[in-house]
Amino acid sequence: MEPERIFKKAESGRPLNREELKTLLTLEKEDDVSRLLEEAYRVKLAAVGKKVYFRGIIEFSNICEKNCLYCGIRRDNGSVERYELPEEAVLAAAEFASSRNYGSVVIQAGERSDEGFVSTVEKLLKKIKKASSGKLGITLSLGEQSEEAYRRWFEAGAHRYLLRIETSSRELYKRLHPKDHSFDGRRKCLELLKSCGYQVGTGVMIRLPFQTYDDLAGDLLFFREADVAMIGMGPYLPSGNTPFGKLTEKDFPISEDPCSLAIKMIAVARVFLRDVNIASTTALQALNPKGREMGLKAGANIIMPNITETRFRPSYQLYDNKPSVDENAVECVKRLEEAIAAVGEEIGYGEWGDSPHFGKKK
Ligand code: 5AD
Ligand code: SF4
Repeated sequence: MEPERIFKKAESGRPLNREELKTLLTLEKEDDVSRLLEEAYRVKLAAVGKKVYFRGIIEFSNICEKNCLYCGIRRDNGSVERYELPEEAVLAAAEFASSRNYGSVVIQAGERSDEGFVSTVEKLLKKIKKASSGKLGITLSLGEQSEEAYRRWFEAGAHRYLLRIETSSRELYKRLHPKDHSFDGRRKCLELLKSCGYQVGTGVMIRLPFQTYDDLAGDLLFFREADVAMIGMGPYLPSGNTPFGKLTEKDFPISEDPCSLAIKMIAVARVFLRDVNIASTTALQALNPKGREMGLKAGANIIMPNITETRFRPSYQLYDNKPSVDENAVECVKRLEEAIAAVGEEIGYGEWGDSPHFGKKK
């Protein structure tokens, strides 16, 4: 089908199929790609508006029990200096977010499931909630956990949870992870999170080794089927000290530049899913200093500025050359505000910025 007919179909409320999604993802000609971005921007304005919401990221700890083959803080990477932020540093970052009128913060860390970790997070949540008189929204990005942990954290004040599926292809998932990591386990966690009452976000990495356009179309279908409120996707970026860091170009079936592909993926997600929140992620900025603004122009509406104290940032490197490791939060926000104004958008200060999709479900 022609792109214009696909846009019309999406506009009429009928879900796109795998072939149609693939047609959009593989558009190559400059005019066709511009048209896709234009359509995605139009849908964004109609479905979620022109406001960008900030989620301040707090990189709480880089200690991880898992060993994903692509990730720089995987358990077996002995060259990483491990840390867990002291309570004061987390509370200070949350206070910074409140004082700057951010709607919410994201607490992100490597995966740990011991009781010590679960209760530390629980205590932090209660303290952040109390300090901000319940105003600051709190999102968690702490991986796969037991139902009990998810419930305790929800009761302590977290209301959103990000858990990327990484890829919706079971076969590809297997190639990205060691044998003891389970695709079904991850899917089950997404269900558990929803049943606990969280607003759930998921996402994938784009242009992974062994990944095809067909896989990416499948990812978009998965987002719809999983009925999530938020999407966070970014390009895969190599990390030298990992098994995947040793792969070469021949291991990537997609030859397209990862930044352009990630931008297209955001645009197609917007055209297909309409009213969800979509993040313009740091990984995009790693490939292009203007990557995050390009994401906004392609339909994203969420930006996640890093508000972790600068001295801890060099140790939280999921991939090489992560941007803003030495830029403090104030500088970072100033630059972002300018960039957002430059693309003609405004920041939704002081609002949680739930996706209209989540509102409808409730
Ligand atoms: N490149 C890009 N993203 C990565 N992540 C982990 N390692 C990499 C990498 N090498 C992403 C995963 C994870 C999120 C926290 O970071 O998608 O869910
Ligand atoms: Fe741990 Fe997440 Fe990295 Fe996997 S991707 S090794 S779970 S931090």
